[in-house]
Amino acid sequence: MENLKSQINIAKLPEHIAVIMDGNGRWAKQKNQPRVFGHRNGVKAVREITEASAELGVKYLTLYAFSTENWNRPSFEVNTLMRLLVDTIAKEVKTLNKNNIRLHAIGDLSKLPSRTRKALLDGIESTKDNTRMDLILALNYSGRWDILNATKTIAQKVQNQELKAEDITEETYKAALSTAQFPDPDLMIRTSGETRLSNFLLWELSYAEFQFIRTLWPDFTKNHLYECILNYQNKERRFGMISEQLV
Ligand code: IPE
Ligand code: IPE
Ligand code: MG
Repeated sequence: MENLKSQINIAKLPEHIAVIMDGNGRWAKQKNQPRVFGHRNGVKAVREITEASAELGVKYLTLYAFSTENWNRPSFEVNTLMRLLVDTIAKEVKTLNKNNIRLHAIGDLSKLPSRTRKALLDGIESTKDNTRMDLILALNYSGRWDILNATKTIAQKVQNQELKAEDITEETYKAALSTAQFPDPDLMIRTSGETRLSNFLLWELSYAEFQFIRTLWPDFTKNHLYECILNYQNKERRFGMISEQLV
């Protein structure tokens, strides 16, 4: 483990890592357990990635915890997930404070059960002065929801004559998204072998490096993160240019 970690070039760390935590259900099924058993065991992996990211010096970590589409799952699973969120946040706030990590949430929080929303808002409030790393939970989030919302905000400004349509820029959009205060992710990791975005950070991932790994989320460890970062560091991010321009 030290071995992989020691190969990471700290000067070239991704500033922001975004993760689609996928494969809890399949992990449980492999063990002949109900799907929610997988969700419960996914919490350990959240601890692993949060701790490892903070230790390395990553500044922003966004975790996709619940998509707007996930409401379509059986209600037992949805309810269990919502309760698990309350319990986990309540339990982990102390550790977040000890490790100087600030909690944020993106997504339509108004649709969450009130207990879940309260646990979340309490966690956000009690960690708001922490400065080492920002941990952003995407909850009842979807990229299209966010882009639509931003569009409505911008349209309202145009209607109020606070903004001219021809003055709308990428920066105008970025400022209207729920991720306005965070830089775009440099690295996006999805576990479980699926190679799709599932409505995650559609605007923000335009130039991120993607790492799709076969590991199911509950099995994700610090070493998996180190491997993803090492692969990321071997890529050349050209942003439309050619190699020779990058030196
Ligand atoms: C990811 O695991 C967790 C959430 C979407 C909440 P899944 O529950 O999607 O697990 P699989 O993909 O069915 O294995
Ligand atoms: C994406 O995973 C959402 C989260 C990880 C929270 P899903 O498992 O819901 O995605 P699909 O439905 O397989 O694309
Ligand atoms: Mg899934």
